[in-house]
Amino acid sequence: MEYIYKEGKDKNRPLLLLLHGTGGSEQDLLSVASYIDDQASVLSLRGDVNENGMLRFFKRLQEGIFDEVDLVERTHKLYDFIEELSNKDDFNKDNIVAIGYSNGANMIGSLLFHYGDIFKGAILYHPMVPLRSIKLKDLSKTPIFIGAGNNDPICSKDESIELESLLKDAQSTVTTHWENNGHMLTKTEIESSKLWYDQYFK
Ligand code: MLT
Repeated sequence: MEYIYKEGKDKNRPLLLLLHGTGGSEQDLLSVASYIDDQASVLSLRGDVNENGMLRFFKRLQEGIFDEVDLVERTHKLYDFIEELSNKDDFNKDNIVAIGYSNGANMIGSLLFHYGDIFKGAILYHPMVPLRSIKLKDLSKTPIFIGAGNNDPICSKDESIELESLLKDAQSTVTTHWENNGHMLTKTEIESSKLWYDQYFK
């Protein structure tokens, strides 16, 4: 898997793990990360599934319908890969805030569903419920920010509410920022996620 690792000025700050949306690349969220915390180290991954030229982090059968076998397999592989990189690039894997948009947010959601409290926090822009077949692990130590859209045709309002309630049932403190826009990542939701980040990590 291709990635960018940039060591931050302050190695005590959480490492920001970035996962882009479908059709994106490891470049996409770099400016968001530096806006959120310009002192933090950054690890930005490039999805290794190619869907008609668009990169993603796991396969889907059609829009909104995930290939769950592939998702589970790649979730475990990604977990191992992050651990491997933490040794190679010498960052603390226990001090990570994960940030993802759309498909990247869904992969982070799947990591949280499978592994529980592995991140210090997570910012999920326009996530869906990654899978419904597993019981969530404890997330009491992982506050989560969700950026959701009332008019998002891909991650519907009902699904955003369902995800929020699943995460809350797993004891996470969830902050949901609602917009009236569609699936796009907006300036105001990024600003809102920065306020959330500052509250927990600065
Ligand atoms: C997905 O994971 O398929 C999405 O949330 C939708 C997308 O990435 O286009």
